[in-house]
Amino acid sequence: MFSQKGFSIYRLCLVSIFLVLFHGMPSSSSFSRRTLELMSKYPLIDGHNDLALRLRMQKNSLSQINLYNYTKAATNINRLRAAHVGGQIFAAYVMCTAQDMDAVRLTLEQIDLIRRMCDQYPELELATTAEAMRNTTKIACLISIEGGHSIDSSLAALRMFYVLGVRSMSLTHNCNTPWAETSSVFYSYYKREINGLTDFGKAVVDEMNRLGMLIDLSHTSLATAREVLQRSRAPIIFSHSSSYTICNHSRNVPDDILLMLKKNGGLIMVNFHNGFIACGGQGNVSTVANHFDHLKHVLGAEHIGIGSDYDGATGFPEGLEDVSKYPALIAELLSRSWSEAELAGVLRLNFLRVFDKVEEVRDTLRNTPPSEVQIPFAEANNSCRVELKPPVIPQMRNDFSVHGHSPLLSVSALFWAVLPLHYLLLHW
Ligand SMILES: *[C@@H]1O[C@H](CO)[C@@H](O)[C@H](O)[C@H]1NC(C)=O
Ligand SMILES: *[C@@H]1O[C@H](CO)[C@@H](O)[C@H](O)[C@H]1NC(C)=O
Ligand SMILES: *[C@@H]1O[C@H](CO)[C@@H](O)[C@H](O)[C@H]1NC(C)=O
Ligand SMILES: *[C@@H]1O[C@H](CO)[C@@H](O)[C@H](O)[C@H]1NC(C)=O
Ligand SMILES: *[C@@H]1O[C@H](CO)[C@@H](O)[C@H](O)[C@H]1NC(C)=O
Ligand SMILES: [Zn+2]
Repeated sequence: MFSQKGFSIYRLCLVSIFLVLFHGMPSSSSFSRRTLELMSKYPLIDGHNDLALRLRMQKNSLSQINLYNYTKAATNINRLRAAHVGGQIFAAYVMCTAQDMDAVRLTLEQIDLIRRMCDQYPELELATTAEAMRNTTKIACLISIEGGHSIDSSLAALRMFYVLGVRSMSLTHNCNTPWAETSSVFYSYYKREINGLTDFGKAVVDEMNRLGMLIDLSHTSLATAREVLQRSRAPIIFSHSSSYTICNHSRNVPDDILLMLKKNGGLIMVNFHNGFIACGGQGNVSTVANHFDHLKHVLGAEHIGIGSDYDGATGFPEGLEDVSKYPALIAELLSRSWSEAELAGVLRLNFLRVFDKVEEVRDTLRNTPPSEVQIPFAEANNSCRVELKPPVIPQMRNDFSVHGHSPLLSVSALFWAVLPLHYLLLHW
């Protein structure tokens, strides 16, 4: 009896120690349960993914690929679904070396690929409005152009990309365009005396406001970012950039720009790439969370999102290797006392608020006609651009000319000479 009572006391003590140790200290399993509840209620919208680039490396041969379990990329449908992803901004990306060459064609091919992909798989759905992104129970695909060189300094090209469903564009990639400046020093072309944004660059910003396209400042220089933040009537996004204070990489955003972003009502969507998170070292979930903590401290949780950059870079933090791993970050932020309301914003509501506002600005500008601003030829003079002049009709062979040397007469003489031959060939 005594021994049995002793045993009970012993058991009670064990239970008490257990309760003292864990009471009030939520277990990691409670964080993962709350994470999954939160993410199924607020499916993630991620700001930047380069799967289309990976697929281009496979010659755009979508038919040869099973996108459910594709493992040559960090992104596949099974993983997206495992992580409760509800929207993905897919980059239509063309390397800077195509600037002034075939950038426009290559961009069209990327858009074609994203549209085919989102059409072919029933789990995906092309979206072009905030409402469609909100409504869908599938993974909404939003198309974004990465790098202003894709429009070849043409507002008409920009508008036609909009018609094809593009709803966001970053003004530069790692190269200057003739009208905006990059944060990178990889390429030196279009280096100007006064950087930032030219008059044509301002026209691009205005036209994107009018169309209702998100302006993305990831990859632009600080001077360009400042000018755009001052000019844009709509909130802007950094679709895949992190905090410069935590890692001083030129792709990250310093605090003074973050304060302008807060005033603008925009959003910074945090990039996971080791280069920007851990300044080239090996990051982990905790290193990424440090960026979130700092950003929240500077501009508040309502201006933060996630723009992982999966498949756009190699080198991702431990525990965040592919698109199935987002929940690890959300659990970490919960354990750092981020509230569920703050995280619902980070996951999707902040992005949808910004997109709504961009559409509202578009609506207020509905009586503004499409811009007919053209870049001055001298500012975009390159070997692939034709300076438009009246056509020069080549001098025809003398044997066909009738009277004198009028080129028009020569053309008509050629026409009458060729016609009978043409007729003969067709009716042989
Ligand atoms: C993907 O799934 C298909 C069909 O179930 C299977 O044939 C294929 O081997 C899988 N591929 C990988 C990389 O797991
Ligand atoms: C979104 O859902 C609402 C309510 O069901 C519906 O009225 C609206 O037409 C839907 N919009 C789109 C773009 O699907
Ligand atoms: C970034 O920080 C490192 C070490 O903290 C320092 O060596 C480097 O000069 C800094 N770079 C810039 C651009 O400030
Ligand atoms: C994450 O990385 C930091 C810096 O390298 C390190 O101090 C920390 O222990 C790591 N945390 C985990 C959970 O691995
Ligand atoms: C364009 O560039 C070519 C070659 O550098 C030059 O000959 C031409 O004068 C330039 N045209 C204009 C309008 O700047
Ligand atoms: Zn990028």
